[in-house]
Amino acid sequence: MNETSSQQVLGTGLSGLVGSKVVELLTQYQFENIDVAHPTKPTDITKLDQVLATVESSPATVLLHFAAFTDVTKAWEQRNDKNGVAYQVNVVGTQNMAEAAKRTGKHLVHISTAYVFDGEKEASYTEEDPVHPIEWYGQTKAWAEEAVIQSGATYTILRIDQPFRSDPFNRPDVIRRLVNGLTQGTLPPQFTNHWIGPTFVDDFVNVIQWGIESKTPGIFHASSGEKWTDYDLAKAVQDILHVPGELKEGDLDAYLAKSNRPYQRNTAMSTEKLRHYLPQPQLTVREAIARVRLDVAATR
Ligand SMILES: NC(=O)c1ccc[n+]([C@@H]2O[C@H](COP(=O)([O-])OP(=O)(O)OC[C@H]3O[C@@H](n4cnc5c(N)ncnc54)[C@H](OP(=O)(O)O)[C@@H]3O)[C@@H](O)[C@H]2O)c1
Repeated sequence: MNETSSQQVLGTGLSGLVGSKVVELLTQYQFENIDVAHPTKPTDITKLDQVLATVESSPATVLLHFAAFTDVTKAWEQRNDKNGVAYQVNVVGTQNMAEAAKRTGKHLVHISTAYVFDGEKEASYTEEDPVHPIEWYGQTKAWAEEAVIQSGATYTILRIDQPFRSDPFNRPDVIRRLVNGLTQGTLPPQFTNHWIGPTFVDDFVNVIQWGIESKTPGIFHASSGEKWTDYDLAKAVQDILHVPGELKEGDLDAYLAKSNRPYQRNTAMSTEKLRHYLPQPQLTVREAIARVRLDVAATR
C-alpha cells in the first residue's frame, strides 16, 4: 500500500464524461462526489452554505471541480442571463467551490476549456494569451477561472479541448461522433479550416493525478498539445480504426454564414508548459485514437 492509497478526494462532476473516467482509473483515491443527489450529503453547488458544510466536513485536502453546464448551444440560448443554469453552475458554482477551498485551506483543481479564447489566433494558444470569450459558455468559464484566481485559494487550472475516451459514454464524444457519422452515412462535411486540440481523457487522468499530488499552482493547458482540422481528424479515425464511409471536405465560413451562434475557429493549445512538469509524456492523438474501443457498448 503506498502513501496515497487511501487519500480522499472531494469532487464535483465526477459522473460526467471526464470525471467518471478519473474515478474509474485513479483507484488509489477515495472519491466523493458533491452532488444534489448525494444519499447523505445532498449539496447544490450553487448554494454557498451547502458547499461550505460539505467541504468543511471532508478530510480531503484536494477539491476536484469538474461540474459544469457544458452544452454550448443551450448556453448560447441563455446568453446574458445570470439566473440561467449555465451562469449559475459555471460561475456561481465555481465561486462557491473556490470560496470553500480558500476557507478550508484545500487545494482546488479546476477544469476549464479552450473556449475561454476567441479562436482568432493562428498558432496554438499558450497560457500567456489573454482570455477573450465569444459565446456564453466560454464567457461563463472565463468568469469561473477569474473567480478561482481572485479567491485567494491555492489552485491548479487545467484547460482542455474536445475530450474523448477509450470507451463509450452516454453521449458521444468527438471521436464517437465521427465513427457514428461515418458508419451511418450521416457525417456532415468536415471543416478543413477549423482547428481543435483533442484531449484523450484516459491520458488526461494522469494530469489530474499530477495535480492532486503536486498541487502545482497556476494555469496549464492540458489537451494533447496538437492541432488538428476536423477533416484530418476524421481521416485519421478512418485510417486507424478502419472505419469505412464517405468523408467530405467542409468550409467553416460557409457554415458560419448560416449559424446563429459564434464558433471559435481555433481552440488548439500548446502544452509546452505542462510538459516540463509531467512525469511522463502524453500520448499523441494518433496513439490515443488507436486505443478507442469500438467493440464495447456504452455502460453509462
Ligand atoms: N465536454 C467538453 O467538450 C469539454 C471541453 C472542454 C472543457 N470541458 C470541461 O471539462 C469539465 C468536465 O466536462 P464533462 O464533459 O465531463 O461534463 P459533462 O459530461 O457534461 O458532466 C457535467 C458534470 O457536471 C455535473 N453537474 C452539472 N450541473 C451540476 C450542478 N448544478 N451541481 C452539481 N453537479 C452538476 C453533472 O452531474 P449530473 O450528471 O449529476 O448532472 C456531471 O457530473 C467541465 O468543467 C467542462 O467545462 C469539457
